[in-house]
Amino acid sequence: MGQPTHALTQHDWWRSAVIYQVYVRSFADGDGDGTGDLAGVRARLPYLAELGVDALWFSPWYLSPMKDGGYDVADYRAIDPAFGTLAEAEKLIAEARELGIRTLVDIVPNHVSDQHPWFRAALAGGPERELFHFRSGRGAHGELPPNDWPSQFLGSAEPVWTRLPDGDWYLHLFTPEQPDLNWAHPAVRQEHEDVLRFWFERGVAGVRIDSAALLAKDPALPDFVDGRGPHPYVDRDELHDIYRSWRAVADAYDGIFVGEVWLPDTERFARYLRPDELHTAFNFSFLSCPWDAARLRTSIDETLAEHAPVGAPATWVLCNHDVTRTVTRYGRADTGFDFAAKAFGTPTDLALGTRRARAAALLSLALPGAVYLYQGEELGLPEADIPLDRIEDPMHFRSGGTDPGRDGCRVPLPWAAGAPYAGFGSRDEPWLPQPADWPAYAADRQSEDPGSMLRLYRAALRIRRTTPGFGDGPLSWLPAPDGVLAFTRTDGLTCAVNLSERPVDLPEHTQLLLSSGPLDDKGLLPQDTAVWLHA
Ligand code: GLC
Repeated sequence: MGQPTHALTQHDWWRSAVIYQVYVRSFADGDGDGTGDLAGVRARLPYLAELGVDALWFSPWYLSPMKDGGYDVADYRAIDPAFGTLAEAEKLIAEARELGIRTLVDIVPNHVSDQHPWFRAALAGGPERELFHFRSGRGAHGELPPNDWPSQFLGSAEPVWTRLPDGDWYLHLFTPEQPDLNWAHPAVRQEHEDVLRFWFERGVAGVRIDSAALLAKDPALPDFVDGRGPHPYVDRDELHDIYRSWRAVADAYDGIFVGEVWLPDTERFARYLRPDELHTAFNFSFLSCPWDAARLRTSIDETLAEHAPVGAPATWVLCNHDVTRTVTRYGRADTGFDFAAKAFGTPTDLALGTRRARAAALLSLALPGAVYLYQGEELGLPEADIPLDRIEDPMHFRSGGTDPGRDGCRVPLPWAAGAPYAGFGSRDEPWLPQPADWPAYAADRQSEDPGSMLRLYRAALRIRRTTPGFGDGPLSWLPAPDGVLAFTRTDGLTCAVNLSERPVDLPEHTQLLLSSGPLDDKGLLPQDTAVWLHA
């Protein structure tokens, strides 16, 4: 059982935290109806404490028609009945805290569900139209969309405008069931600040901000044309004022933010992390980076260099509910991640991918800053192939069926090898089918196996919590052969990762703290293996 930690009294816990993402629908099914729920999470809190995470980030658990897995929110102040009740969420937050675990909720400010009361009132012709982007179309009869913006679901041929029977069009960067809010309207700002307070009042420690760089739109909604000049809806300067007001709300509760900011320009990215804006943002360049020593080193160096001037800690992320699972990605010819490159039937060597994912776990947990884990990553779950007739993700449908979508990383977790549905639930079939070999990945089985991914994560998080040198702080590279990443932190902590084909000597040390796989018979570090050492 994990110790209630040090960290609850620590004001800057988030600078070094390990935060575990819970996608409730697929985590654990407490009432047996095939959908994960808060009862399931509450029953597994001891598992999460034993794993040793500092906080849980819940993907949206609010009332939702689930047209985009809950990222289509109909009421920010209500829990979806499939998951439980608000009272249960409050209990969960309190129970997690008892175990030394903080809670983060997920706010989706760019859009709401088309079932949100505001949008329903807007459709009925009310003044709520001003809270969205309604426009007349182009062409002689308004039959063409108001502008040429591309969909945010990459590869999608679908327009971002939908026409209503009355002839007007409304904007939705994602699906038609997710109308975009008009952030130039004061009521939209007011409402979100109230929602933040609502959750901070209920004891949450932080908020993940969905699609954080997309909220503000050029009021003229001009064509995108050739991408020169300020983008009409990505990373607009107006956003910073919005996040400065959010920061003031969070500061009153000692709450923190983590932004979902996908931006290639590192200087623009870092602007969101200035001291009076967001505390942290996800590091998607590290997530997307191929398993290649030189590329990883560049990604790490650039990450640290871009965060330093604003004083924000980096985050290290290998996967989440939107991307291909790590062991699968690292077992493919192309080990990077790119939404546009997703395809059916990509050949995968899972043994290779798992070896690399184990090494990547030790690498990311030794880097300066905070780490995000996505549920099932600690079990080494692979991306699942979902039968075509069971796919639910709109990304698949909006691509015209070429993109497999994101359901493959959202399959209900295996908890008990011998139980029905690998212990996810008890009665009804899980909402997404589990692959036949899922029991082999079950948490109970891995718990007994010293060589399992789960045991590696438990050991790594325990060492990370109890050994000085981890988390926020400086990093110095050590001289190392080509294809090897080796660095020291403070207090004699050293990490080495061999991505070259040849076994290499371990850096100088007095103690081997942990290795992601066995050393060879000469005591050398083999390919795709990482170690933590004490010098
Ligand atoms: C974010 C979420 C993703 C969702 C999208 C629209 O990228 O992570 O799951 O589909 O926003 O809300």
